[in-house]
Amino acid sequence: MSQSTVLVLNGPNLNLLGEREPDIYGHATLADIEALCRKAAGLAGLEVDFRQSNHEGALIDAIHEVRHTAAGIVVNAGAYTHTSVALHDALAAVSLPVFEVHLSNVHRRESFRHHSYLSSVCDGVIVGCGPSGYAYAIARISELIDPRH
Ligand code: DQA
Repeated sequence: MSQSTVLVLNGPNLNLLGEREPDIYGHATLADIEALCRKAAGLAGLEVDFRQSNHEGALIDAIHEVRHTAAGIVVNAGAYTHTSVALHDALAAVSLPVFEVHLSNVHRRESFRHHSYLSSVCDGVIVGCGPSGYAYAIARISELIDPRH
């Protein structure tokens, strides 16, 4: 991990993208999203460390691991977004640019998806833009770390 690497962190069930509720999440697989992230990062002269875990503690460990070394974090924490005070605290502990992404527009869905424990400790939130949301978040991190910004 170098200071030009963005951690892209994916939470539970996102490994099933492509087959999971395609009417909501579309047909892109997580591998497709990883390729998109690498392309977006490459355009900005950045690299990507792309990870997925179904385990809350593993997501927290990944945040701790990169907290002094990454350029920024893009996080789609899946359902942990709506439940995890521990992920909130982990993100609050880092001073990197952090962007929360959701493929679907969570505000147009069930009310339990309307609250995020993460948004208040993120620099920005992108919802409902599908896989492109990840690319937008990476582009924004590259702007924020640009010394000319
Ligand atoms: C999601 C939205 C969450 O509410 C849900 O639990 C997910 C995916 C999204 O990308 O739209 O797993 O984060």
